[in-house]
Amino acid sequence: MTTLFSNPDLRLVIVGGKGGVGKTTFSSALGISLAETFKTLVVSTDPAHSLSDSFEQPIGDRIAPIDGVKNLFAFELNAERAFREFMNTHDADLRRILDSSTYLDQSDVDMFMQLAMPGMDEVMGLKTVADLVEQNHYDKYIIDTAPTGHALRLLSMPDLLDAWVKVLAQLRWKYRKVVETFSGSYSPDSGDDLLLSLKKTVKRIEALLKDPTRCEFLPITIPTQMALAETERLVNSLWKYGVSVKRLAVNNVLTASGADAVFIEKRREQQTYLKQISAAFPTLEKLQIPMQASEVKGVQKLRAFMATVAPI
Ligand SMILES: Nc1ncnc2c1ncn2[C@@H]1O[C@H](COP(=O)(O)OP(=O)(O)OP(=O)(O)O)[C@@H](O)[C@H]1O
Ligand SMILES: [Mg+2]
Repeated sequence: MTTLFSNPDLRLVIVGGKGGVGKTTFSSALGISLAETFKTLVVSTDPAHSLSDSFEQPIGDRIAPIDGVKNLFAFELNAERAFREFMNTHDADLRRILDSSTYLDQSDVDMFMQLAMPGMDEVMGLKTVADLVEQNHYDKYIIDTAPTGHALRLLSMPDLLDAWVKVLAQLRWKYRKVVETFSGSYSPDSGDDLLLSLKKTVKRIEALLKDPTRCEFLPITIPTQMALAETERLVNSLWKYGVSVKRLAVNNVLTASGADAVFIEKRREQQTYLKQISAAFPTLEKLQIPMQASEVKGVQKLRAFMATVAPI
């Protein structure tokens, strides 16, 4: 299925799902397939990166070309480094904003400190991806995410950044009132510029994630009870958040025939769950990926894996 996600307007495919269902394998394989037509970048936002394992070549926190696949590049994002770089670049402006607040409520500063730290590395990770998409050096971007909870947290990052900006803006507003009261006028400084640019960042990321022509989330699942329950929660959360989901991939499907009793029973069980999956997601296009005979690693096997993807 080489036509999957080949609409040129679609720039970003976010691949997500429960632990171990094949997110990294599918992201890598989709990258290989899209690279036949498009300059493609696969980014892992999972702190436990495994794109290197999947492609069987070292990758890391710098964009690297994939050996043997023209037009394909990959990158294992280090969100903590992205956060540190942001803090280093904007240290003076952040201090300026906080220092101005020392004339004001200590509780404001406390609130900022509490909101600022948890999740800010992920905010900056997502910002890095959004920046990459906007720099427009690639036609297609694929994000290989960490298991469900983490992926959902990633998508809530614009809200977190927004909350962060609001607290800072509140501090600035109070400061501005004090300055205006004493000196009659206030001229915005680089602290205000930073706030404005962060506000724009929130809007940019949200606009990208919630634009169904540019961004699509592809959930991957497997035909088991637990995976089905988690996929329902994931898809509902994505829809609530406003992220487009049009397809669902079901991996590890036993498609071969065999006479072994365990195999026959396993297949029967899978068919039950496949029916339940179809009933649970009537509006989604369903894709199945057969269980392969061996682990799917290296470009050749990834290519073969992609060739087996078929509509259900
Ligand atoms: N259809 C398949 N047939 C056989 N093996 C598969 C198939 N899909 C994936 N695998 C293998 O299953 C393992 C898990 O796959 P993968 O790493 O892609 O999952 P993941 O969802 O990214 O896991 P994690 O949640 O840990 O990031 C890998 O060893 C991969 O080669
Ligand atoms: Mg993975």
